[in-house]
Amino acid sequence: MANMSVCEFRPGLEGIAAAQSSISCVDGQKGILEYRGIRIEELAEKSNFLETAYLLIWGELPTKEELEAFEHEIRYHRRIKYRIQDMMKCFPESGHPMDALQASAAALGLFYARRDLDNPVYIRAAVVRLLAKIPTMVAAFQLMRKGNEPVRPRDDLSYAANFLYMLNEQETDPLAAHIFDICLLLHAEHTMNASTFSARVTASTLTDPYAVVASAVGTLGGPLHGGANEEVIGMLEEIGSVENVRPYLEDCLERKARIMGFGHRVYKVKDPRATILQSLAEKLFEKFGHDKYYDIALEMEHVIEERLGQKGIYPNVDFYSGLVYRKLGIPTDLFTPVFAIARVAGWLAHWKEQLAENRIFRPTQVYNGLHNSHYIPMEKRSLLGKDHQTIY
Ligand code: SDX
Repeated sequence: MANMSVCEFRPGLEGIAAAQSSISCVDGQKGILEYRGIRIEELAEKSNFLETAYLLIWGELPTKEELEAFEHEIRYHRRIKYRIQDMMKCFPESGHPMDALQASAAALGLFYARRDLDNPVYIRAAVVRLLAKIPTMVAAFQLMRKGNEPVRPRDDLSYAANFLYMLNEQETDPLAAHIFDICLLLHAEHTMNASTFSARVTASTLTDPYAVVASAVGTLGGPLHGGANEEVIGMLEEIGSVENVRPYLEDCLERKARIMGFGHRVYKVKDPRATILQSLAEKLFEKFGHDKYYDIALEMEHVIEERLGQKGIYPNVDFYSGLVYRKLGIPTDLFTPVFAIARVAGWLAHWKEQLAENRIFRPTQVYNGLHNSHYIPMEKRSLLGKDHQTIY
């Protein structure tokens, strides 16, 4: 048997480096996030989502000509095949939009199947198609599940404004579109999180980039990861009032329940993205009216800091993002698909980086099962002590 003593098991691979990367960096003690060395606060103030996506994927800020060409390519490729739309029409309206997104992202691979991974043109085409089409697919499912025909993307609108237009079937206020664009920028990349790790593992087998993104979408959907933003709103609605915050949280802590939108494997202080998202929410409230759930959220942050701050549990990116999206008219179960729209940029950057110096992921394990067992004849097997559930 393999020598067990040599391999170390770290639950959740905590603290284990799965790759060398130059895409982004997080200092969890100081609450710092950098994309290609640039602080997220500076990018949020001076850049936009597509320019930042270019920076993440190709490693440097584009020239004016490079950015214009990239934006033009993205506009040109926003539409999705009718056959993918027809496929989406067969999805149940009650299905979760993340499942619809995972299925349709994988379906792109049926149309652009070749795996020309050594061909820079193929790589760029995959990057453009995924960044351009994912928002269209999210908006299309939303309209179709309401019984409407999807609206065509508009070339005269920016990336963020076009998504909100396709979703709401009307143009969006410029401030709202700008704030949404910054939200996408903030969610674009975050080192070796679970969905990015999924993307790299899938990429390391040299499969197609559509399977890579579909794998990452599936991972992002869980409530411990990107799915938390949707859970936060549910929690705020359940609390219902500022007065009810403390009793609600004390009960959660008593039950050792997880408070959605709080805690992080890396940040042991407030997530810097949460701070920026909070300021964006306040800008929206100023222009479009207050949201009582913001007062509840502020009280939650205060109580959790008092009760769990010493454990390094503070708001993460998912805590305030939902309040911004609500104000932008985005339905709650689309919050995580919106996270996915942004994170496609980071997943693609990691896909390219993995291909540049690839070795297929194949970790080991610490085996704690049986050895030298034998087959038991049917007549000697027993149901004793088993809770035998059957589903029909
Ligand atoms: C994202 O990794 C990334 O970068 C992810 C992300 C990105 O941009 O890609 O930042 C996006 O996924 C943000 C996280 C969204 N998830 C949630 O908000 C769900 C609630 N958070 C927790 O489930 C938790 O904080 C995790 C999953 C985010 C991190 O979990 P860890 O690092 O595995 O921490 P842990 O479970 O080992 O907990 C350590 C201690 C435990 O207490 P003890 O048993 O040691 O006494 O902290 C406690 C936990 O009970 N704890 C919490 C808590 N998070 C940790 N207690 C209450 N509520 C919480 N949210």
